[in-house]
Amino acid sequence: MTSPWWVDAVTYQVYIRSFCDGSGDGVGDLAGIRSKLPYLADLGVDAVWITPFYRSPMADHGYDVADYYDVDPVFGSLAEFDQLLAEAHALGLKVIVDVVPNHTSDQHMWFTEALADPDSPARTRYLFRDPAPDGGPPNNWTSVFGGPAWTLDKASGQYYLHLFTPEQPDLNWRNPEVHEEWERILRFWLDRGVDGFRIDVAHGLYKHPDLSDNPDAGGSTIVAGTEYSSSIVSPHMWDRPEVQEVFRRWRTICAEYDGDRAMVGEVFLFDIDRLVSYARPDVLHMAFNFMLMGSRYDADEWQRVITLALDKHREVGAQTCTWVLSSHDVSRHTTRYGGDEAGRRRAGAATLTVLALPGAPYVYQGEELGLQDVNVPPEQRQDPIWERSGHTVTGRDGCRSPIPWTAEPPGFGFTQGSPWLPFSPDADTRNAVTEAADETSTLSFYRAALRQRREHLRGALEWLESPTGALAFRRGRVTCGMNTSTTGLVVDVEPGSRVLLASGPGAVVTGAWLRLPPDTAAWVISEESA
Ligand code: NOJ
Repeated sequence: MTSPWWVDAVTYQVYIRSFCDGSGDGVGDLAGIRSKLPYLADLGVDAVWITPFYRSPMADHGYDVADYYDVDPVFGSLAEFDQLLAEAHALGLKVIVDVVPNHTSDQHMWFTEALADPDSPARTRYLFRDPAPDGGPPNNWTSVFGGPAWTLDKASGQYYLHLFTPEQPDLNWRNPEVHEEWERILRFWLDRGVDGFRIDVAHGLYKHPDLSDNPDAGGSTIVAGTEYSSSIVSPHMWDRPEVQEVFRRWRTICAEYDGDRAMVGEVFLFDIDRLVSYARPDVLHMAFNFMLMGSRYDADEWQRVITLALDKHREVGAQTCTWVLSSHDVSRHTTRYGGDEAGRRRAGAATLTVLALPGAPYVYQGEELGLQDVNVPPEQRQDPIWERSGHTVTGRDGCRSPIPWTAEPPGFGFTQGSPWLPFSPDADTRNAVTEAADETSTLSFYRAALRQRREHLRGALEWLESPTGALAFRRGRVTCGMNTSTTGLVVDVEPGSRVLLASGPGAVVTGAWLRLPPDTAAWVISEESA
């Protein structure tokens, strides 16, 4: 029996606003994505996850949805989406859409009704509460984006809960109407033919039933180089046991459809046992595993983390394990690893290692071009985190700079208009056209890695002996070695092997040794299968 497609798929994350602009308004859209589908197919990814494109006032750039059944005019139309889906499928690409069930926009019909009439049924679809005895918010929860998690509805004198911005009121998942509506939303997109869903804030839908105070109010937490309020891990706001029932139900809905429709949950939990509980075979198909994203660039730490992740997923019977290094919410791994040439060299080693692992890697747009965070000037910053923090927290704009497709300023093939965020200063040399013509570019490296992965990487992972500062494992006939140290290191390989692909120059096999220069990874294949 063959495995479902998602078990070892490489999924490319399209952050739609910054991917490609077909309309000329400076913001990426569905037409832009359509025009780049051949690029994605050629790159060699299996699936594309598109961040929210539904009707939205854009308080959180689309993660505040006013109508889950329509496309925002900034991004296109339903007809455009249908075309995109058909064309992606014709190219052999799966398409995953991003759903946001934790909260709606404050412009969603339900919320406007809830505000207009405190006695309306719509009110019970959100979390309105009376003030605390001192007249302040009902509890001490802070929003993940800073500031209180409650906003006063002056007309009624009650507060409503929002784990993110006040324009993103949290839904009350203890109300069955919310479940019914969400099943309709899922079916709407499944009927259109999507291959699955990325579920935003999947572990957040239910809050502690008493909405009791968090023990740890205040402070901040750095997640992969990006600052969030420490409420991102506060115990009473996340990971209630009730939430998995929702996904069990959704899984049966997905199973009613042909083609192995799949869900991947954004489950932001540091506790690996809690994380994998969402990836059990009757819950979500996949849960984002952010463990490598949260790790230092260090082969010894990586070996521990990879072993733990694989073991824990296996223990619960999960069908796959995901791997993530970057996203639209955190600093790019090129930047986290030091930036510029050193950061890129390390990012290459990290990427080659991740692409050799068993499971389902996620690639964030632009990492295949070697993009790093852009230092966005304060007056051009757009992230609500920047505004809400009173301009003290930089936010996520740096990792969201538009993709430079060509070497031609001012639009670099991204737009005919004025881009919503600035390009990287090196866009004239680091862009898709220039890199496609250069066989030593990051883009050529990703293409080769994705092609070789499809062709050669199979089977379970077996760790091999390696010196401190390096890791080495075998899958089938391929050995992957990674050296994160500052000196050259050697790992054992089968005699008669050759280098299939390396992240940088100087990786050589001599006899039964693979010599890896500092900050380099390589894939080696034994001769008989080459
Ligand atoms: C997680 C998304 O990835 C992020 O971009 C968004 O701001 C929050 N969820 C709120 O929806």
